[in-house]
Amino acid sequence: MLTAKIEKALNKQIQLEAESSFTYLAMASWADANGYENSAQFLYAQSAEERDHMLRLFTYINDAGGRALAPNVKVKNDDHESLEKLFIATLENEQKVTEAINNLVDLCLKERDHSTHNFLQWYVAEQHEEEKSFRSILDLFKLMGTDRHSLYHLDKEIGNRIGGDGEPENGQI
Ligand code: FEO
Repeated sequence: MLTAKIEKALNKQIQLEAESSFTYLAMASWADANGYENSAQFLYAQSAEERDHMLRLFTYINDAGGRALAPNVKVKNDDHESLEKLFIATLENEQKVTEAINNLVDLCLKERDHSTHNFLQWYVAEQHEEEKSFRSILDLFKLMGTDRHSLYHLDKEIGNRIGGDGEPENGQI
């Protein structure tokens, strides 16, 4: 049984995962429209992963006797100055999600909710992997440079990461 506090906090996390999903969808579309086809595929797949993260929370809340709430997502279809700036924004988003997960874990300890604490360990590990994945993409920009020729190869390299190291592997279109 979930306490009201935990149920509310888990529903807030649903909102954040949904926002991440739609943010990456908007980013994928920008990448597609700007000729970065492989980065677009990577981001479409990442968007699908975030939806999975959201659905896991749905199932957990309802299985535990609570009620998962469909999120009300408002997302901006931002333009990006460059592909590098876009990926800087992805890492910043993941860091925000990690902080939210850490706060949730803290709350579980405070509320003595060991079941939800256990459930959230998957997210703790996932956030580690996702931050690593986006950080390694940002390293590519430093290693390969950002002239047109480099960006062509960089985009290909990002495409090669779809399904690699478990990140991201679903939702390719
Ligand atoms: Fe589900 Fe990337 O946070």
